Amino acid sequence: MQRIPLIAGNWKMYTSLAEARALAGAVVSACKGLSDREVMIAPPFTALATVAEVVKGSQVRLAAQNVCWEEQGAFTGEIAPGMLRELGCSMAIVGHSERRQIFGENDALINQRVAGALRFGITPILCFGETLAEREGGQTMAVLERQVRAGLAGISVGEPASMVLAYEPVWAIGTGKTATEEQAQEAHEFVRNLLLSMYEKSIARQMRILYGGSVNSGNVDALLRQPDIDGALVGGASLKADSFERIIHFRQ
Ligand code: PGA
Repeated sequence: MQRIPLIAGNWKMYTSLAEARALAGAVVSACKGLSDREVMIAPPFTALATVAEVVKGSQVRLAAQNVCWEEQGAFTGEIAPGMLRELGCSMAIVGHSERRQIFGENDALINQRVAGALRFGITPILCFGETLAEREGGQTMAVLERQVRAGLAGISVGEPASMVLAYEPVWAIGTGKTATEEQAQEAHEFVRNLLLSMYEKSIARQMRILYGGSVNSGNVDALLRQPDIDGALVGGASLKADSFERIIHFRQ
């Protein structure tokens, strides 16, 4: 019943094509010989085709940073799951706090994205997390429960590997302020118990919950040692080949 750790790199709106090619090449090299963990990278949409060529035949999985729920149609600015599949994407980040806060995506929309991804065979990484004001107001667990329940509303999970969650406290993203291992584990354990109440136990126990928010080469080991932290969603430190390599090689 071991959950296979997943190290995921979110490149956000960074990298030229040349930079993307070089970084993806470094990630492929860093993963050689690793069989006890999974590694995924999410370049910007414009670099997906380029990175797909680099990771082809390697164990590095390709992801998109968002995904629409419709097969095709008049959805200006959106990308359909089938289009992503065609490029070799098998995962998509959904509900990232930057989508929620800057672009106004709400729980209902995010739920549609989760459903759409699953319908087309793409594994969603559903992100959720509290703001600093919510933490300081003692609302952390209520916010996590609301976001997870709403994001997964009506979603049945047949195969635990087909659904990934990511706890990303908003105050820890891009700030250099990581949640302590204890804070992160407390949130992950809470979400694990929530999943156990929503899904069959064997499935809920197997679903991976990643931690994200200023993960770096210095804190990754301690975070991933926590019993309910099953991987990391890494922003800034995934853009530097040497730091992401060290994160990929985390030691539990
Ligand atoms: P960060 O970003 O590692 O730069 O904090 C994490 C994320 O936004 O997924």
